[in-house]
Amino acid sequence: MAKTPRLVLYIYLTFAFCVIYTDAATPSNFTYVCDPARYAQLGLDIKSLPFCDKKLSYEVRARDFVRQLTLYEKVRQLGNRAYGVPRLGVPEYQWWSEALHGLSNVGPGTFFDNSIPHATSYPTPILTTASFNKSLWNTIGKAVSTEARALHNLGHAGLTFWSPTINVARDPRWGRIIETPGEDPFVVGTYAANYVRGLQDVEGTESNTYDDLNSRPLKVSACCKHFTAYDVDNWKGIERYSFDARVTEQDLVETFNRPFQMCVQDGDVSSVMCSYNRVNGIPACANHKLLKETIRQDWNLHGYIVSDCDSVEVMIKDHKWLNVDNETAVSYTLQAGMDLDCGGYYTDYVENAVKLGKVGEGDVDKSLQYLYVVLMRLGIFDGQPQYNSLGINDVCTRAHIELAGEAAREGIVLLKNDNGVLPLATKKNEILAVVGPHANASDAMIGNYAFDPRNKGSPCRYRSPLNGFSSYGSVNYTAGCSSVKCSDGNMIGEAVDAARTADATIIVAGIDLSIEAEGLDRLDILLPGKQTDLINQVADAAKGPVVLVIMSAGGVDISFAKSNPKIHAILWAGYPGAEGGQAIADVVFGKYNPGGRLPLTWYQADYVDKIPLTSLQLRPDDSKGYPGRTYKFFDGPTVFPYGYGLSYTKFNYALKAAPSKLPTKLSKFQHCRDLPYKNGTIKPSCPAVLIDDLRCNKKFKLNIEVKNAGNRDGDEVVLVYSQPPLGIIGTHIKQLIKFQRVSVAAGKSKLVDFAINICQGLGIVDSNGNTVLPSGSHTIIVGNRQIVHSIQLTYR
Ligand SMILES: *[C@@H]1O[C@H](CO)[C@@H](O)[C@H](O)[C@H]1NC(C)=O
Ligand SMILES: *[C@@H]1O[C@H](CO)[C@@H](O)[C@H](O)[C@H]1NC(C)=O
Ligand SMILES: *[C@@H]1O[C@H](CO)[C@@H](O)[C@H](O)[C@H]1NC(C)=O
Ligand SMILES: *[C@@H]1O[C@H](CO)[C@@H](O)[C@H](O)[C@H]1NC(C)=O
Ligand SMILES: *[C@@H]1O[C@H](CO)[C@@H](O)[C@H](O)[C@H]1NC(C)=O
Ligand SMILES: *[C@@H]1O[C@H](CO)[C@@H](O)[C@H](O)[C@H]1NC(C)=O
Repeated sequence: MAKTPRLVLYIYLTFAFCVIYTDAATPSNFTYVCDPARYAQLGLDIKSLPFCDKKLSYEVRARDFVRQLTLYEKVRQLGNRAYGVPRLGVPEYQWWSEALHGLSNVGPGTFFDNSIPHATSYPTPILTTASFNKSLWNTIGKAVSTEARALHNLGHAGLTFWSPTINVARDPRWGRIIETPGEDPFVVGTYAANYVRGLQDVEGTESNTYDDLNSRPLKVSACCKHFTAYDVDNWKGIERYSFDARVTEQDLVETFNRPFQMCVQDGDVSSVMCSYNRVNGIPACANHKLLKETIRQDWNLHGYIVSDCDSVEVMIKDHKWLNVDNETAVSYTLQAGMDLDCGGYYTDYVENAVKLGKVGEGDVDKSLQYLYVVLMRLGIFDGQPQYNSLGINDVCTRAHIELAGEAAREGIVLLKNDNGVLPLATKKNEILAVVGPHANASDAMIGNYAFDPRNKGSPCRYRSPLNGFSSYGSVNYTAGCSSVKCSDGNMIGEAVDAARTADATIIVAGIDLSIEAEGLDRLDILLPGKQTDLINQVADAAKGPVVLVIMSAGGVDISFAKSNPKIHAILWAGYPGAEGGQAIADVVFGKYNPGGRLPLTWYQADYVDKIPLTSLQLRPDDSKGYPGRTYKFFDGPTVFPYGYGLSYTKFNYALKAAPSKLPTKLSKFQHCRDLPYKNGTIKPSCPAVLIDDLRCNKKFKLNIEVKNAGNRDGDEVVLVYSQPPLGIIGTHIKQLIKFQRVSVAAGKSKLVDFAINICQGLGIVDSNGNTVLPSGSHTIIVGNRQIVHSIQLTYR
């Protein structure tokens, strides 16, 4: 979603319309479209309207509705503000709402006022991801959709939410990492599927084997965005609105598209948003291959494809793509498969485009069909009685606020803990120096897509670090810098003085939306301004133990703190949501034993000098000196690697079951394919087989015993990677194939059972973008090489 001045203006305009919409078109006694009493009052005969006939399928009903519309009426339903069809008793609908990590007032479909001023704000996705807890992701989705239904009943929200953001965080500089589930495509896709199911699924109809997925009911409709290869916002003047992502088929299949595929196929999401950028020259929203062929045909989307806001205008004015005029642009995007326009171009120009013969009315009908089936699945036509009772008492409940705190505790990552200085012991009359620009953070903790201060609305409450630590001691607070930019050192002295006399010192530092944000990529990955001086001087003077807490989305090179013996412990808290400050204090004082893991590689500062943000390439390139991106392709030194995170206890692993051989017999229709090998590697006689040729229904067992060998209960995240046979040129170093967070009591063990599909676990993507299963010796790596096990895969 855009934030240029032009687009902000646009948001205001739509917001103004929205007020009209709620006051006039959706009176508080509005229940659902096909309410017989409503039609009686409107003086219309409901019996003559097949689209209100519950005996028919949604597809038949949607087709009937669309069939009755004039071309003018049709095009007025194709923008995020759908004007409705008064003549048929169908009211306006505002499609655009956001729920990235709780309900948001960004987007005109959801709004707050004095009658309903708050909603629960969960940690930003980058921190929630660090929990590596699938059921947490799903549970948050459920809680958010419950609040969404409540607001909808109160006339304060639509039912279509353009969340989550599932672009892979390819480079630490990208400004929108805060919204993402990190750098690993499999984790991003797993997060997407779980969060989407939490938002969308109606209890009892969750199954992916539900007989007709086009009639599967929806609690709310989610949207996976932004498709695809979208991860440059504004870097050295290169903006997403004109950026042409040059990307190989291999990287698309393996990295950029994979989370979207999982979102559609595993999450059964009801919408995908196309992005602003071009992909190899063609704007994503006008890309037939990406939208119609890949999302709709290959992945079989049950839902609609929406543009990012004003994408059509961006295509014409910023990309200046093919110098198309308005009518040609909308005809291209409609034909490519973009069904709904966030903006006004479809509403304003499709009618003329049809009249000029640039696009068929049948294309319009098809898009409307997808849109109305989604509205019917939401109950907008028939009601959804099981949610009718939800109201203000279901928003900001104790359980939801507690869940926001739980998510923050589960996500926080312990990066350093010299001599087990943490957890700090609680002592009477203890003085805690709580210093740093985030020591009293509130807004910064909830990040973006939360509560835009220009509109009403805020979290249920805030628990800043200052609040949190106040429950453990007598806090001496001093910011040390007036903002994270910390451009002068005037206030450092006060922080140093506070630390000099305190029993323990907690420095809460890092960055915020003034450094990394939508529309703002970073140029370096260091702490800004004088923050490093602040931290070092405070640590130097401190009487007691020193704990550094970093708030950020992208990694920060804090090597200086890692190696400084006077900084005893370091925590990463992402942007931890409205309850975040309490969660940090609870971790520092051992009320909660941290188990989060970094969902990103933390690179050293010079990484940014080696490769431009605008290069989409994942693999290293010696000819250009590019080092490779993400743990899958970068093997240089890091500040902290992907998956890193400590605990207050110690876990040991033992491999209990795993195959060592996987022989596969090929039929005469399954052909061997070649792979490139490094010189000196002995090439197998049958290097690989195309995954599409294999049936790929075989799974192997991997059972791991996790023992808590310490004396504190704790959570362990078990990360399982596979490494392809050595010698294959151009493949990844390793890839994550399974993960599970488990709670293990002190002294006890737990068995973690994985069933791994051979193709998903051991397949690789070749240079043409084909997924193949190589033969040879694959290696299973668990965690930080606590278990290394080889599996010989052979073809006969
Ligand atoms: C809603 O209630 C108002 C006042 O009670 C009434 O005039 C109006 O007809 C009702 N509208 C519908 C659609 O039921
Ligand atoms: C994962 O999240 C769920 C849902 O919030 C929670 O009940 C469970 O305890 C968490 N699991 C672990 C191992 O922390
Ligand atoms: C194209 O659309 C824009 C926005 O509605 C408008 O300002 C412009 O005049 C249109 N161009 C033509 C040639 O109609
Ligand atoms: C902490 O921040 C809150 C909210 O921004 C503010 O009201 C409060 O005065 C601040 N506390 C201190 C001690 O500065
Ligand atoms: C709190 O810190 C200030 C310096 O910022 C210091 O002058 C004061 O003595 C400290 N108070 C306590 C109770 O330690
Ligand atoms: C591998 O060997 C061939 C023939 O000996 C040679 O032409 C080629 O350059 C070598 N490739 C690499 C990557 O060393």
